[in-house]
Amino acid sequence: MAVHVIYGSDSGRTKAVAGKIAAKLDAKIINVSNATTTDFEGCDLLVLGSPTYGDGDLQTDWETGVDVLAEADLTGKKVALFGLGDQNAYPDSFVDAMGTLYDAVVEKGAEVVGFTDTKGYEFEGSTAVRGGQFVGLVLDQDNQAAKSEKRIASWTSQIL
Ligand SMILES: Cc1cc2nc3c(=O)[nH]c(=O)nc-3n(C[C@H](O)[C@H](O)[C@H](O)COP(=O)(O)O)c2cc1C
Repeated sequence: MAVHVIYGSDSGRTKAVAGKIAAKLDAKIINVSNATTTDFEGCDLLVLGSPTYGDGDLQTDWETGVDVLAEADLTGKKVALFGLGDQNAYPDSFVDAMGTLYDAVVEKGAEVVGFTDTKGYEFEGSTAVRGGQFVGLVLDQDNQAAKSEKRIASWTSQIL
């Protein structure tokens, strides 16, 4: 099974997490700033990750990355999402970028897998919550880094 992990990262935390996820999924890892439509289309499972910046925005490279994604045909493709954020400093827009990626891939016909429980996180609002669950894996390296290894292990086995 071909798996592609496509990520964007400003200060390196999402890059580090993408590496761990890719290792567990035996995946090819691609920085979104280099990603082509073929990178989005040419796999059986597509894994996308972004931290949230500004006030609920995508990481900068993803701003153009979503335009490349919009050119890809993801009809019926299984897509899993992960997002990094800071629930203490940004409780009203916690991991919103993952909600933006969710809308973008659903728009292209993808089937999103790997929803997770919001239990264990404290925040006020997030566009990454749909139907009471996060649309993917949520990691808070600023406040809950100690929980991340276990969260990554459980999520990667869930999506496999
Ligand atoms: C200026 C700034 C704005 C941020 N805005 C948000 C936000 O709106 N929501 C959120 O959950 N996290 C926010 N964060 C936290 C980052 O998403 C978090 O630190 C993340 O781990 C950074 O990932 P990176 O190292 O891959 O760039 C913000 C951080 C900074 C520095």
